[in-house]
Amino acid sequence: MSPREFEEVIAAGQRVEPRDWMPDGYRKTLIRQIAQHAHSEIIGMQPEGHWLTRAPSLRRKAILLAKVQDEAGHGIYLYSAAETLGADRAELTAKLLAREHKYSSIFNYPALSYADVGVIGWLVDGAAICNQVPLCRSSYGPYARAMIRICKEESFHQRQGYELLMQMMRGTDAQRAMVQDAVDRWWWPALMMFGPPDDQSPNTAQSMAWGIKRHTNDELRQRFVDMTVPQGEALGVRFPDPALAWNAQRGCYDFTPPDWAEFTAVINGHGPCNDDRLAARKAAHEGGRWVREAAMAFARRSAEQQTA
Ligand code: 3HC
Repeated sequence: MSPREFEEVIAAGQRVEPRDWMPDGYRKTLIRQIAQHAHSEIIGMQPEGHWLTRAPSLRRKAILLAKVQDEAGHGIYLYSAAETLGADRAELTAKLLAREHKYSSIFNYPALSYADVGVIGWLVDGAAICNQVPLCRSSYGPYARAMIRICKEESFHQRQGYELLMQMMRGTDAQRAMVQDAVDRWWWPALMMFGPPDDQSPNTAQSMAWGIKRHTNDELRQRFVDMTVPQGEALGVRFPDPALAWNAQRGCYDFTPPDWAEFTAVINGHGPCNDDRLAARKAAHEGGRWVREAAMAFARRSAEQQTA
């Protein structure tokens, strides 16, 4: 593919594939975004993984286990998509552990009660779906195809969270209070997941011109609020934002923006759990070294046997 053909493919809304010519900046942007996304899926196993041994019933434990395993799978599809661009998975992981790569701000907050499992499913996976469904139409083929499967699974995650919350809201006053407390804590970090406001987002304009992103951060944040408020009303929870109100003129909800100074601190490593999350990831990576080495030795031996 020539540079002109690349532009034509992008303009026609078609897909760029791994062997096609692409500008360096396009490749770099994709590796950055896909790696950040992959790291987020893997680190994202931690807040809820914490509750696996404390689930209130066997049913809840089985559901949570399936969900956390799905996130690991998402990380693997995404690292594979990054590898089609020439990135090396081991290097991407090393950059995460060295704090040279970011991962989603949302996973630097603690999950304090089992209601958090429900609220993470509802709000965090809900925000992820809102952000990621348009990525199924991303211009880079392997990324777009990975996102189709990921979004199907995220949709199950969102529903399991909402179903857990419905059960808790039909329970005792203490359970309803736990749900409300979790909504109060996760609402603002969920709004931050969409990234900085458009006028402070250095990457959006170019990523949209290349068809990597299909909507701006603010557009998706608004879409999430509009989708989520009626769900909260059906559930019977309040949102911790006194300015949240339907604006008939705009045809969407007005809401208070999150605290962007907090967002900046969290993505620069100073959130409530950044150090714990990275320490746990490092320990898991070291603990898995023997598995990686055994798999490599097995692959080498099998190749030698085949040649012999
Ligand atoms: N957390 C951490 N860093 C963030 C962030 C967030 N919520 N939002 C933005 N950033 C970073 C960007 O990576 C960029 O950093 P860099 O330039 O140093 O690499 C910087 O802040 C400026 O932001 P931009 O808006 O210019 O960056 P993007 O154009 O890349 O937009 C994005 C940010 C909307 C997150 C986009 O990258 C995206 O859509 N990514 C794919 C989805 C994704 O990564 N989701 C992670 C959520 S986790 C998840 O879905 C797991 C599920 O199980 C819940």
